[in-house]
Amino acid sequence: MMNLFITGTDTDVGKTVSTLAILQALNHQGIKAVGYKPIADQCIDTPEGTRNKDALLIHSVSKNLVSYDEINPVRIVDNYNHKNIIDFSKIKHGLEHLNDQCDVVVIEGNGGWRYLLDDNTFYADWLKEETVGVILVVGIQNGCVNHALLTADAIRADGLPIAGWIANRINPGLAHYAQIIERLQQHIKAPLLGEIPYLLRPEERDLGHYLDSEKLQKSIRRSAQ
Ligand SMILES: Nc1ncnc2c1ncn2[C@@H]1O[C@H](COP(=O)(O)OP(=O)(O)O)[C@@H](O)[C@H]1O
Ligand SMILES: [Mg+2]
Repeated sequence: MMNLFITGTDTDVGKTVSTLAILQALNHQGIKAVGYKPIADQCIDTPEGTRNKDALLIHSVSKNLVSYDEINPVRIVDNYNHKNIIDFSKIKHGLEHLNDQCDVVVIEGNGGWRYLLDDNTFYADWLKEETVGVILVVGIQNGCVNHALLTADAIRADGLPIAGWIANRINPGLAHYAQIIERLQQHIKAPLLGEIPYLLRPEERDLGHYLDSEKLQKSIRRSAQ
């Protein structure tokens, strides 16, 4: 049973893009990996039913080993609705079910680490009881060193291991890119698994080769212990 949980320094920093990259890198290595977007909070109605953009992308690279419903069991229409009750047991069972069918499950979270699902429930609450290695996606932009280090502290304070981090270059115009990466490497204290450059329509590309497969596999093995 091996699970990776993808979090980010913020929303819109490349969690979905990094989830796709990890799934592609693992699948290239012959490792049976599927994605999991347990809770989707921005959904659209389609002829097939309620769908979420991230979960659809994740499903498309999960080699159709599993159905959309298995990848995305919980769909919230409005996360400021006080009547939301997230059934964590449904999410846990969904994860166990995927664990039975593949080698690695790559779980994409929502927002950043302290994301609230309702007035009082933090997303990360259900993770504390799971065996997961967390991968921190750092969207390389102004303020990212501060956000990355605060997030790394919060993950560790919650008792979860950081399996690695990914640098995602969402702002190609940012100065001092190399120095920012160096500082992050020095302070995050987990392996840098890869750098994803600024790309046009990254979701439509094969992103696996931007990650170091060996380091990724090592991180997965460590997380499972
Ligand atoms: N490396 C990149 N280069 C260019 N655009 C990117 C890159 N990574 C992400 N994006 C774009 O930024 C937006 C947010 O990325 P996404 O992976 O959906 O973030 P998150 O899952 O953290 O909300 C998307 O429109 C995506 O296409
Ligand atoms: Mg996403």
